[in-house]
Amino acid sequence: MIVLKKMNNQKLIKAIEKYFVNTYHRQEIAAKKAAGSFIEDVEGNLYLDWLCNYSAAAAGHCHPKIIKAIKEQAGTMDAVSNVVYHTGLQVAEKIVDFCGYKTQQGKVLFMNSGSEAVEAAIKIARITAYTGKGIARNKAEIISAKNSFHGRTPGAIALSGDSIYKNFEPHLPGFRQIPFGDSEALKKAINKNTCAAVLEPIQAEGGVNIPPSGYLRECREICKNAEILFILDEIQTGFGRTGAKFCWQHENAQPDLMLGGKFAGGNQIPVSFVVGPKDIIDIIPSGLHGSTYGANPLGCAIIKAVIEVFEEEKLDQQAKKTGEYLLKKLEEEIGDSPLVKEIRGKGLLIGIELSAKAKKARKYTEELLQKEHLLVKERGDKVIALTPQLNIQRDLVNKGIEKIKKVLGK
Ligand SMILES: Cc1ncc(COP(=O)(O)O)c(C=O)c1O
Repeated sequence: MIVLKKMNNQKLIKAIEKYFVNTYHRQEIAAKKAAGSFIEDVEGNLYLDWLCNYSAAAAGHCHPKIIKAIKEQAGTMDAVSNVVYHTGLQVAEKIVDFCGYKTQQGKVLFMNSGSEAVEAAIKIARITAYTGKGIARNKAEIISAKNSFHGRTPGAIALSGDSIYKNFEPHLPGFRQIPFGDSEALKKAINKNTCAAVLEPIQAEGGVNIPPSGYLRECREICKNAEILFILDEIQTGFGRTGAKFCWQHENAQPDLMLGGKFAGGNQIPVSFVVGPKDIIDIIPSGLHGSTYGANPLGCAIIKAVIEVFEEEKLDQQAKKTGEYLLKKLEEEIGDSPLVKEIRGKGLLIGIELSAKAKKARKYTEELLQKEHLLVKERGDKVIALTPQLNIQRDLVNKGIEKIKKVLGK
């Protein structure tokens, strides 16, 4: 008789940790499968996933249409290098249109991870400073927001200015941070060397911080008047997460450059991009920017399928509707809990801010996972973020609420 050895989370994690550089504060489960709203661990336990790979699994895990596109493309053409054109690049038009830049002769620059899109935007802002605005060499400054998150590469951490990165100093110079949500602070910070402002429309990693209504529109106007680039990092807020295709659309505050990522790669491979009007984005001469895998055929096929899924399933509308329901229900069920200070959100980007008397958020996210089998992520010490798949079924929304109520309710 063959006896199958049952895998065990702890044993497997121990074996992995021996050779694997772990730069994350991981929870103690080892996944082996994922589909829709669920992750299954090696012991066969199912977890409701309301993290969705930091919003990247916006249509749920392993969406059939995305899997189909991958299978077809993988068997037809792999990367043929950026020395030649390939048929997949036709998706550029679709992306430009999807992002709202078609009428302005928009163009798209492909990268891989979100951080790389951020790095590309920094380069575009700087080259614009010297070749377009006549700012003195070495003096270009980019304004960003305190408490922001734009990735972990050197440019991205310099942009965020967070002191947790102090052991990587000296940081890339030329960045100045201002308080988030305060458009007057942006106005005051602009000087003759400023070439751009880079903002997240909502600070997701920073604790689901939603700026006052009108903020993006005001920043848009301030940048326009000062003739500096207004750049929005929609890597987490894009593709319907906040109940609009892109978050700037809530206020019609179209940026000069917009950064996308996460769901762009269908939660399968890294695909990111910078998009904007041709006059602005087309400034980098050949040879000064690129990536071996950027704009590869598989990535192009995936983003095409992602846009089709988005449009067929109206993910933005689903996020709006379900987000409003979830926010209201959470308010009813745990709004008066002594552990909860505030519940806020836009679309399906929702944050539960814990009260001063509550313990650190990590304690509750561990409890939610271990006891309730709900995967969510703390953002800082006081906020638990909820980012379920945008097309989540109502019964699973209710299930998640019940789980949260058990841990955070009265
Ligand atoms: C707003 C924002 N920008 C940039 C990034 C970095 O993306 P990546 O992890 O793909 O480099 C993230 C990732 O969470 C993000 O939330």
